[in-house]
Amino acid sequence: MALTPLAVLDGHILPADEATVPVTDTGLLRGDGVFEVIRVYGGRPFAMDDHLRRMAHSAQNLRLEIDLSAVRADTEALLAEAGTFDGAVRFFVTRGGRRVGLVEAVPPHDQPLVLASVEFVPPRVLDGVKSLSYAGNMLAKRLAEEAGGDDALLVTPHGRVLEGTTSSLFASLDGTTLVTPPLSDRVLDSITRRRLLAMLPDAREEVITREELRGAQEAFLASTTREVQAIARIDGDVLPQAPGPLTQAASDAFGAHVREALGAA
Ligand SMILES: Cc1ncc(COP(=O)(O)O)c(C=O)c1O
Repeated sequence: MALTPLAVLDGHILPADEATVPVTDTGLLRGDGVFEVIRVYGGRPFAMDDHLRRMAHSAQNLRLEIDLSAVRADTEALLAEAGTFDGAVRFFVTRGGRRVGLVEAVPPHDQPLVLASVEFVPPRVLDGVKSLSYAGNMLAKRLAEEAGGDDALLVTPHGRVLEGTTSSLFASLDGTTLVTPPLSDRVLDSITRRRLLAMLPDAREEVITREELRGAQEAFLASTTREVQAIARIDGDVLPQAPGPLTQAASDAFGAHVREALGAA
């Protein structure tokens, strides 16, 4: 079934282009609010409880009061109205108190990526907050595109590799194990990353430097919308394989995990 661009605004379903937020809402004026993007397969949400839990956590850290049961009810109402579609529901809550959910398409993420590194320092005060303040991430992506890439690889001024602008990074430096930067480096506690770490016996958290990444055998970005997407090149360095065997295995395992979670295995 084709995707209908619907929204839910404070409990009311309406066409997405009719949903509005007052211009005085500081969610808009200052990016003061929280959001989540939940993947939907055949009309069914994946890992919805994890997303709601993270939204509650983000809101608590941001000192933002939200009604989580209303967020859940709104999302369920939107899904019921949208029917059987493949895509995502974006949900955000603003400081002005608006609850908004949107049905969104998810573009295909099957081609290996070219990344360009961009210097980035995650704001410490927003640790553990998936906030609406994403202008820095969006600018990093644009800078990477200007440099000929598809997305940015965020790297600290001290050369520690962090993540993509809306995704986590996994790499194999030795060809047998996968590593991903630790949460202590202030990367997002990604739901996809967490699940991959739990399901892949040879994956673990480890600090990765930009220098070490130059010798990587393979690497991929992971997120709700990308799932597992191989990286072909980072700056001038061509990865030996894209996807490499560990990336392919991670992609297969994640696909099977989604099917099992949705009861379709
Ligand atoms: C900065 C950042 N890192 C990682 C991710 C991946 O998180 P998840 O797997 O929960 O989608 C996202 C997703 O939006 C993100 O914005």
